[in-house]
Amino acid sequence: MVDSLTYTPKITLEFEIGEKDFFIAGECASRVKKTLQQLGLKQDVIKRIAIIIYEAAMNVAIHATSGRLIVHVDPDAITILTQDIGAGIEDIDLAMKEGYSTATYEIREMGFGAGMGLSNIKQCSDGLSIESKVGVGTNLEAKVFFRNEKKAVEDT
Ligand SMILES: Nc1ncnc2c1ncn2[C@@H]1O[C@H](COP(=O)(O)OP(=O)(O)OP(=O)(O)O)[C@@H](O)[C@H]1O
Ligand SMILES: [Mg+2]
Repeated sequence: MVDSLTYTPKITLEFEIGEKDFFIAGECASRVKKTLQQLGLKQDVIKRIAIIIYEAAMNVAIHATSGRLIVHVDPDAITILTQDIGAGIEDIDLAMKEGYSTATYEIREMGFGAGMGLSNIKQCSDGLSIESKVGVGTNLEAKVFFRNEKKAVEDT
């Protein structure tokens, strides 16, 4: 018997992110969450992935001019990519520090800009790489592995 919970097909989900689109990040996270729930991934893994997606997409919306989020679902891992055109990050190590933010007063007033997004992404991912060129844009890639992380499937 084929057990659908033990089979993860290859899926790619893609979203365009516009400048200052404060709603798209939540939408991306919930759309991917739904897909992963249908595939039977464990709730805590899905939660980590949703946090990465939310924070990464939010960064594109807030700090870049335009960009996109791509999520690859493979049999043993999820890869979350953001690619944007924008200001770029001058010092990535500094940007990774908790509490560091260049968010404007206006953005902080809206409840963002605590400087926690990138460190949150790092904490939730099994691998993170960021490439950026000032005045050009930023690419982020986060991986979450979920081999052996699926819901236990009982033999009946
Ligand atoms: N895609 C991006 N393009 C340009 N700069 C970025 C990008 N992502 C992050 N940064 C820079 O890195 C800093 C730290 O990002 P981080 O997500 O940790 O915090 P934040 O976005 O400022 O606040 P929070 O995520 O807590 O709302 C940002 O303030 C910004 O200067
Ligand atoms: Mg952020």
